[in-house]
Amino acid sequence: YRIDWDASAAEKGGWDSFMDKEIHEEPAAVQRTLFGRLDDEGSINLDEVRIDEHDFKAIDKIIVIGCGTASYAGMVAKYAIEHWVRIPVEVELAHEFRYRDPILTPRTLVVAISQSGETMDTLMALRHAREQGSKVLAICNTQGASIPREADAVLYTHAGPEVAVASTKAFVAQITAAYILGLYLAQLKGTVFRDEIHQTLDSLKAMPQKIQWVLDTQPPRVARAAEHLADANSFLFLGRHVGYPVALEGALKLKEIAYTFTEGFAAGELKHGPIALVDEGEPVVFIVPPARGRNILHSKVISGIEEVKARGAFIIAVAEEGDKDVERYADIIFWRPQCPTLMSPLVDVVPLQLLAMDMAKQKGYDVDKPRNLAKSVTVE
Ligand code: AGP
Repeated sequence: YRIDWDASAAEKGGWDSFMDKEIHEEPAAVQRTLFGRLDDEGSINLDEVRIDEHDFKAIDKIIVIGCGTASYAGMVAKYAIEHWVRIPVEVELAHEFRYRDPILTPRTLVVAISQSGETMDTLMALRHAREQGSKVLAICNTQGASIPREADAVLYTHAGPEVAVASTKAFVAQITAAYILGLYLAQLKGTVFRDEIHQTLDSLKAMPQKIQWVLDTQPPRVARAAEHLADANSFLFLGRHVGYPVALEGALKLKEIAYTFTEGFAAGELKHGPIALVDEGEPVVFIVPPARGRNILHSKVISGIEEVKARGAFIIAVAEEGDKDVERYADIIFWRPQCPTLMSPLVDVVPLQLLAMDMAKQKGYDVDKPRNLAKSVTVE
């Protein structure tokens, strides 16, 4: 796929950047990645994946490998797959993986996540895993790329070509594909009742319109936040559970296209050091879990917000519509519609992608071609 950087507005679908276009393609990216993998009874059909059921059933550990955004998609998937399949899921940066002499057996499934399918760090890690006798399943957005070609099997995401260097729609498609894989394993191993699998699939199928709701309603809030925070020199991003990898992804987006120093970390880490970074007016972004069902994680994140608020921080929250606690403390709120916690990364990441894009545009930077970066890192 040759990238035509000087594509006319027509190729950008009328959007002023590929990144804007691709963020707005996220509902379709999730929809198309789901399409054709669910049969009429609502079960999952992965006949396209060339790993036979017996080998799938024998899997007793998963190691997800990837870089950057792909690794954060893997971190989100870890929470879901461990919950559904009850086997350990490790997430490893591909470039660290093969140098740590990992423990790999024929019952370890290595899942290589890559949008381009050409990331050399991930390809080399894939080769190492196969040399050690483990099966590798690629989750990839580019048909016929090196990584899917060298893997034992591939589950393609169908996000469509992603041109902007900053990955957006591929991230939500990677999570969707990893969830399909996790639910398929749960279906095979019988670790989740069929009706719960159907319910979970129904909530996954509902996510495109929830992403669309965010895209229809939140951009004006994000634009105002970008304006207000135009001169901020640093941001902290905090999240818990599946919100933690979303915090890392939000931090990466702002870093790579607005060249703003950011730090993403687990909200529970605050007291163990990073709170020392909080100064008067420091923008701190919190991804807030749903409050419903007296969610203990929600109250812990709210207490983190209270702590940094007390030290003068400027609070930006990504939270579920109607969260009164957040309204009490946050200076800016990006709302998401109600959805299960495991599905929330698919909507929570959207305002953070838009924020990075608006901040970069405000600074006059090229959001599609940020300095020093390539769309695919084909060298180790
Ligand atoms: C994403 O915004 C970055 N440009 C980068 O981290 C990217 O996700 C990483 O290089 C992995 O690329 P891949 O998915 O094509 O393997």
